[in-house]
Amino acid sequence: MTVAEIQEEILRMKKEQDVCILAHAYQGQEILEIADYTGDSYGLSVQAAKSSAKGVIMCGVRFMAETCKILCPDKKVWLANPEAGCPMAEQLSLEELRKLKEQYPGYAAVAYINTTSELKTECDVCVTSASSVKICGQLENDRILFIPDPNLGRYTAEKLPEKTFVFYNGGCPRHQEVSSADVKRARELHPEALLLVHPECSPEVVKEADYVGSTTGIMDFALRSDAGEFIIGTENSIVEHLQFDCPDKQFYPLSPSLTCMDMKLTTLMDVYHCLKGNGGEEIRLSDEIMEGAGRCIRRMVELGG
Ligand code: 13P
Ligand code: SF4
Repeated sequence: MTVAEIQEEILRMKKEQDVCILAHAYQGQEILEIADYTGDSYGLSVQAAKSSAKGVIMCGVRFMAETCKILCPDKKVWLANPEAGCPMAEQLSLEELRKLKEQYPGYAAVAYINTTSELKTECDVCVTSASSVKICGQLENDRILFIPDPNLGRYTAEKLPEKTFVFYNGGCPRHQEVSSADVKRARELHPEALLLVHPECSPEVVKEADYVGSTTGIMDFALRSDAGEFIIGTENSIVEHLQFDCPDKQFYPLSPSLTCMDMKLTTLMDVYHCLKGNGGEEIRLSDEIMEGAGRCIRRMVELGG
């Protein structure tokens, strides 16, 4: 079968079965083309809550499918490729979180959405890269324990100088690898280009950026900008999507190391098999997780708007 034939069959099956396909923007172009909604983690959560379909297939990583299930308890939710997980989500164990909370009593525990559902059960609220500043800014508590990404945490803290933050020393293994040497090299190669970066990058990289934002924020900025060239400081599939979206502009990767192997795991055939009933994993969570992590995720949607 060709890519176009598989896509056509997927579109037919998802309509017949009343299934909605959500795809994170780091997925491949052939998957974005068959998705009902594509976007960043925050957009996917909001869309999951709004969808009227009976079922949802998440093309992304495990925490995204779990978030979707928690927001849509009555729907069947599948993770298209059960192996796709975010390494950052697993960095901190529940025991470590409990120790940190003991060390910082009275602090609000804020979890980046890239965490396991288990961790979310013991946090006050979740945030995404697009909503972190807005949500932390609205918390009554001025002391914040931010887990697990210190880069997004420091970016948020800088925008909210009136609050006190403490961080866990985790981070995205891909984004945190990029350095100011990569920025120097990319700027030398493309002196006219604007540098757009994700806040998961280190403060030294963020400091040099012309724009800092979530996956969707970066894409919207590039689409609206009058500039003609951009260096993209986030997962490299965004470079390709922007090339398709704006064929008259030029996009370059900040670093070849910005490739998330977990996000690359999902294939078009995974979606096909999921709809055929012989692939994917249906997400099932205990009542305790649905309730505990649900409180944290729903508060994010409430405060994030
Ligand atoms: P977004 O919140 O921008 O979608 O980012 C998710 C992610 O995993 C970034 O690496
Ligand atoms: Fe997780 Fe980083 Fe991959 Fe995003 S890019 S899913 S944070 S490992």
